[in-house]
Amino acid sequence: MIINFSDDQDEVKVPEEAVKLLKRGLQAVAKLHKLPAKTEVSVSLVNDEVIHILNKDYRGIDRSTDVLSFALDEAEEPQEIGGPETHLLGDIIISAETAVRQGKEYGHGLNRELVYLGVHSLLHLLGYDHMKQDDKAVMREEEEKALRRIHLSQADLDRFADKRDPEHFSATVIDATSEKQTAKTEKDRKSKEKPSERMKAIKPKQDKSKEQKRGEGTMGRDDIKKTDKMIKKLYKKALKTRENAYVPFSKFKVGAAVLTKAGDIYTGCNVENSSFGLTVCAERVAMFTAAAAGVHPGEITMLLVAADTEDVTSPCGACRQVMAEFEIPAIVMANVHGDMRVVKLEELLPFSFKAEDFA
Ligand code: THU
Repeated sequence: MIINFSDDQDEVKVPEEAVKLLKRGLQAVAKLHKLPAKTEVSVSLVNDEVIHILNKDYRGIDRSTDVLSFALDEAEEPQEIGGPETHLLGDIIISAETAVRQGKEYGHGLNRELVYLGVHSLLHLLGYDHMKQDDKAVMREEEEKALRRIHLSQADLDRFADKRDPEHFSATVIDATSEKQTAKTEKDRKSKEKPSERMKAIKPKQDKSKEQKRGEGTMGRDDIKKTDKMIKKLYKKALKTRENAYVPFSKFKVGAAVLTKAGDIYTGCNVENSSFGLTVCAERVAMFTAAAAGVHPGEITMLLVAADTEDVTSPCGACRQVMAEFEIPAIVMANVHGDMRVVKLEELLPFSFKAEDFA
């Protein structure tokens, strides 16, 4: 993607590193959405006064804001025969002053705030929206995916915050010495954000295909935090067992854990074999370990699986069939980055083969 960047303000000295990160964040979105290389987007940093005027002129909202997205309505663009093949997506206008303020407020600094605002705005240009709750969840997920690619997702920040890794923070906070870092998270942003705050100035077309991604059980970051203790426990144990994965061939470690009605947890990891077909997946190892301990079908309430996948880890077909045998109602598909999605067994394996089919 071609990014035309310009810093059109004098109020804030934006570090070069911040601009680089911002561009990398935008390229991550472009890559995830497979945008053609000739897609073009303009990014401009302005001050509060300019964004206030734009907000007033284009949206009739008489105050400044953090970011505005101006989608180029292609339908209104005359086709230029023989003209350049670039596809102009639109303009992203960010208030550098507000980015500094919000970066301090959220405790993650200007760099990360700029990247976040840029990614958020580009997603608007691609048709994402957050007016409705489920749209918002989809958009947040897309933001996280892009930010994860450059190690600036909320999960990354949380991880570093836990480890109190000052080095990581100083790389993204420009004013770390004068600002005491607060433990504010995206949750604060969410609760503060008015629905119209980051609305597009020109509403781009909604990509209907995105609607299909709205899985009922998709959990947002906040939901994950609220997830009951048991899932957290399962997740922790699955990750621990994952470390034991015997994977000399694929190098792809998978961990799984099952929870029984009695509250017991059994775990598994994948175990490979030089006769490849003999490899057993983590999920089956977990279920069979439970079976070996005397757990019967109908007694497992939940299975969780996690690996280092970009999206959540989806169990293979063979494991799904074994899950059906054990009548496990809920499956938590997770990954090592902290993303989770809960699905019903019937969603994973509709029309499954059952004993009553031949009994
Ligand atoms: N694998 C699992 O453990 N679970 C799945 O659901 C899919 C695949 C393992 C098997 C093998 O060791 C590696 O991942 C690559 O297929």
